Amino acid sequence: MYRTHTCGELRIDNAGQTVTLAGWVQKSRKLGGMTFVDLRDRYGITQLVVDAAALGELVEKASSLGREYVIQVTGKVVERQSKNPKMPTGDIEIALSEIKILNKAQTPPFTIEDVSDGGEELRAKYRYLDLRRNPLRKALELRHRIAHEVRNYLDSLNFLEIETPYLIKSTPEGARDFVVPSRMNPGQFYALPQSPQTFKQLLMVAGYDRYFQIVRCFRDEDLRADRQPEFTQIDCEMSFVEQEDVLNVFEGMMRTLFKNVLDVDIPNPIPRMSWYDAMDNYGSDKPDIRFGMKIHEITDFVHGHGFSVFDSVPYVGAICVEGAASYTRKQTDELTDWVKRPQVGAKGLVYIKVNEDGSIKSSVDKFYSADDLRKIADFMNAGKGDLILVLCGEKRKTQTMLGVLRIEMGNRLGLRDPFNFAPLWVVDFPLLEWDDETRRFYAMHHPFTAPKPEHLELFNSDRKEDLEKVCANAYDFVLNGTELGGGSIRIHEADVQQRMFEVLGISKEDADYKFGFIINAFKFGAPPHGGLAFGFDRVCALFGGQETIRDYIAFPKNNQGRDMMIDSPSFIDSEQMEELCLESKVGKA
Ligand code: AMO
Repeated sequence: MYRTHTCGELRIDNAGQTVTLAGWVQKSRKLGGMTFVDLRDRYGITQLVVDAAALGELVEKASSLGREYVIQVTGKVVERQSKNPKMPTGDIEIALSEIKILNKAQTPPFTIEDVSDGGEELRAKYRYLDLRRNPLRKALELRHRIAHEVRNYLDSLNFLEIETPYLIKSTPEGARDFVVPSRMNPGQFYALPQSPQTFKQLLMVAGYDRYFQIVRCFRDEDLRADRQPEFTQIDCEMSFVEQEDVLNVFEGMMRTLFKNVLDVDIPNPIPRMSWYDAMDNYGSDKPDIRFGMKIHEITDFVHGHGFSVFDSVPYVGAICVEGAASYTRKQTDELTDWVKRPQVGAKGLVYIKVNEDGSIKSSVDKFYSADDLRKIADFMNAGKGDLILVLCGEKRKTQTMLGVLRIEMGNRLGLRDPFNFAPLWVVDFPLLEWDDETRRFYAMHHPFTAPKPEHLELFNSDRKEDLEKVCANAYDFVLNGTELGGGSIRIHEADVQQRMFEVLGISKEDADYKFGFIINAFKFGAPPHGGLAFGFDRVCALFGGQETIRDYIAFPKNNQGRDMMIDSPSFIDSEQMEELCLESKVGKA
């Protein structure tokens, strides 16, 4: 037996017992002839002590221990002279009688402490050392706990966990596919699933009624803090349901997770907002409703005063930032530069200040009288000390920019406490999205999302204006400005599915080639069905109070999609290329 206890387990009640522990040397130090060693494992840290009066061999061995050595020790649990109330094992230490070095260790390239001295790249290269640190261990423990709660909850509601294949045909979720060449079918490729979307629908056709899977998905897209090329979904589908049924089940799941994992009560019911209201009021389809600062359209107030910047655009919108009228010229200039950055994309920023003495000052005083400006301030409920920020342009683009500015101001004013949880359902999404560049419609969610039954007539029209008005029973679960999950009621009739492909400009041949299997399946008795998927990594990160998902994934990729530890992707040798009938345009590095 390697150990009788873990390093997090022993307490004052164990005093007098002889125990054997095993773990890693966190640190060792000498103090007045005594050697103290902190021994660490997954469960905690226990202090070991070797008395100067102990056998010379033991003292020598204790002195030879380096950081991260793996050792096994035996000794007696004794009460500490100077206790450490911050450590669960802080009342005791182990007076050693034996030390066995199980494995020596090179000095690690960075400190294995809660706050490490290692840079991100170095820690990514030695991820297995980084994972020894408490914050990462806690993140993975949280992940495990949430997965466990998800399984319990869904199992209690008769959901079956069913695996679906990874080597499949393209799934249209809007990103690029990762592809895998097939040796046995020269020149042909599998695609890795962007989600199990088509399979879960086929399971509904097969009569499985309630499916879920905690499943890896693969998307070749630009990476960000909350995006990884391979990530995990809590993927679900249900038969014989309407939107209300799906929302109820998953509202219940989130409520259970918050209660059982964080002991947090979230609002009951979770508020709902239409996509249109979200865009108009928050400039985002994933509004952070922890704070107000809503967008107001002020086009009618500002048009026709000779200010050509406003007169030449269809939309002028503004947000009111409470208490920010004290912003200096330098600060408003900096904010103007901030909105002009390509990530925001505004051409400029106009401000209106309601000073503490009630007077009004604006960057466009030349065109608007104090009275004009006061009307805007009143309309926006701006009081003394508030700052109104104005952007203009095309409606949706400007709203989106105002949405980004709103989040920035929320950050600057400290309104986005990560442990204040404000969930929201965004509902009634448009079914289709027009793209001016390619001059065609795209599915806003994915091509299996059903139009609302009352919009079927519009859906069958050939007019762009009609198609733009078609809404879907599609919904997103949003938490604190992050899209945690999304889903919809699906198309279950072959002819409607065919029409969807037609609207998306996918020819019948192409649709048959890519999705013939699902169109066919719908001819054999498909039940009405719907579902959704949560981004599991995102759920974990937000529960942990973070926006970055990387620390909640044991072995993540960096922003270039590289695994720095195993140094992947990498070239493959020419034999392997040959076998796969592949030729590369890029040589070996
Ligand atoms: P969707 O594409 O909205 O829907 O994805 C569902 C959820 O997955 C998470 N997510 C990601 N997380 C990390 N890295 C990524 N690259 C990434 N991409 C998406 C998000 C998102 O809300 N098949 C549909 C679901 C359905 O209709 O049932 C789907 O995949 O949190």
